[in-house]
Amino acid sequence: MRFHVLTLFPEMIMESLNTSILGRAMEKDIIQAQALNIRDFANNKHHSVDDYTYGGGAGMLMQAQPVYDCVQHVVEQIPADAKTRVIYVTPQGRVFDQALAKELSGADDLIFLCGHYEGIDERVLEEVVTDEISIGDYVLTGGELPALVMIDAIARLVPGVLSNDESAQTDSFQNGLLEYPQYSRPAVWHDKEVPAILLSGDHAAVDRWRLEQSIERTKQRRPDLYEAWLKKQNGS
Ligand code: ADE
Repeated sequence: MRFHVLTLFPEMIMESLNTSILGRAMEKDIIQAQALNIRDFANNKHHSVDDYTYGGGAGMLMQAQPVYDCVQHVVEQIPADAKTRVIYVTPQGRVFDQALAKELSGADDLIFLCGHYEGIDERVLEEVVTDEISIGDYVLTGGELPALVMIDAIARLVPGVLSNDESAQTDSFQNGLLEYPQYSRPAVWHDKEVPAILLSGDHAAVDRWRLEQSIERTKQRRPDLYEAWLKKQNGS
């Protein structure tokens, strides 16, 4: 799977992606990533990419031309039959969640367009963008961190990225529930004992206990998710 990030701060993207689990996956060529500087596509001598907004108002807007040319440059590198999505990272988009991460992990190429200033000229968005996605109801200074958040969540679902394929299976949200509590050695720490059932060796009982804990935790902490899970259980 290939990630292409269009940004004014390519180093911010690559520094992060080259680290830890995703860095290892890139070394193994399981995923590929590149960050392109939109400024390199500005066709004016000062390489400026922003201008005032028509109609007035505070702030500058990223102009259509450099964004369009940068997207075209990437699209030309992608095989015609590849499953490609062009994502504009914006607080006005659909809110990202695990289900969307799963859906996007099935693509061949994901192009992330990171805005800065007050946003991007609407006309280029209309021409190139397939999805507008937000990471939550708060506003950040740019799209780079949201793009990195999404890439991390998507890439770890690509087979081979996590060393133990299991761990993505038992994640929170994967079955619509939060994850159960977990414990490691020692069996007693600060006078707190590990729940006895986990030491019993009875795998079926452990599985039952974990499911109960997941359900209870979801009910307490995320009643919205719990209601959705209940509905699904009841087949509605
Ligand atoms: N850009 C600024 N804030 C954002 C957010 N919450 N999600 C996606 N892109 C953003």
